[in-house]
Amino acid sequence: MEKKNIDWSNLGFGYMKTDLRYVANYKNGAWDEGGLTADDQVTISESAGVLQYAQTVFEGMKAYETMDGRTVVFRPDLNASRMIDSAKRLEMPPFPAERFIEAIRQVVKGNEAYVPPYGSGASLYIRPYMFGSDAVIGVKPSNEYQFRIFVTPVGPYFKGGAKPIVIRISDYDRAAPRGTGHIKAGLNYAMSLHAIVEAHAEGFAENMYLDSATRTKVEETGGANFLFVTKDGTLVTPKSDTILPSITRRSLMYVAEHYLGMKCETREIYKEELDDFAEAGLCGTAAVISPVGKIVDHGREICLPSGMNEMGPVTKKLYDTLTGIQMGRIEAPEGWIYEIR
Ligand code: PLP
Ligand code: COI
Repeated sequence: MEKKNIDWSNLGFGYMKTDLRYVANYKNGAWDEGGLTADDQVTISESAGVLQYAQTVFEGMKAYETMDGRTVVFRPDLNASRMIDSAKRLEMPPFPAERFIEAIRQVVKGNEAYVPPYGSGASLYIRPYMFGSDAVIGVKPSNEYQFRIFVTPVGPYFKGGAKPIVIRISDYDRAAPRGTGHIKAGLNYAMSLHAIVEAHAEGFAENMYLDSATRTKVEETGGANFLFVTKDGTLVTPKSDTILPSITRRSLMYVAEHYLGMKCETREIYKEELDDFAEAGLCGTAAVISPVGKIVDHGREICLPSGMNEMGPVTKKLYDTLTGIQMGRIEAPEGWIYEIR
């Protein structure tokens, strides 16, 4: 397979139009058979549910070229089921899981020339999404929907790759109790835009959101879950009903316990505890694991002992093991790697 002539090692996290995308339409109570198209444009009613009332959900996962030249996708079954949960919460017709995975296979295969070469540090980001496409004007669910998947080659989400980032504790809330924080809905990201623009303007890479009910507990960032390492080497991740159930975080907890023999806890984490951790990081498909060097709470600096120069040693072990599994250097748990070719 001849790869595209792209400067793979210098890619950032951005959109690049590739050759083919997948489209299926839902009408009269059923999904059509769907298929690949070269057309990257979407035409919908000016009063479409997505445009008026933000009726849209999405997913994110990655394809990799492995050490032995295969093209693989990491745990797409979990993205399929999370997208079903997201769709149900916004009164959208779920796209069946088997069809989701088959569509992923078609899009990745159709754009194989864009799968970054092994060792380049880049990967192929896969973005499934669906939206209400027909006209609504009273507040109600659409009758018609479109499900699409595009792919785009990407590099690191944060400039500087594995360099520790500085984040701030946000005064804005991300998700309400019993709201939509646990699903991947566009509305959660729209409402975070003001907070991220403000954070960037103040020199921070991301926001740490607290639970909106008490503002005492750590939740997540705008696009990743948190992980913390205690001074005695336990991996701790926040437990909350209002954060996205990150597939990367769930995978890392498994890797920590079963590959690295670490103690792991998922529990409520209070802001006051932040001073006590040895290492901190963000984890997600886009972020992979991005180390956090400093957390700023209204001028008060919480400096992680792992420092601002490199990933902490435990974070590094987690990172190496997870990416080793994703790229075929380390044997994966049963069912984690979906082979395209
Ligand atoms: N939290 C939020 C808000 C996200 O947008 C993401 C990205 O998908 C994650 C967490 C990480 O989830 P995952 O590991 O499944 O990509
Ligand atoms: C992902 O990691 O897939 C996400 O959706 C995060 C997004 C902020 C890019």
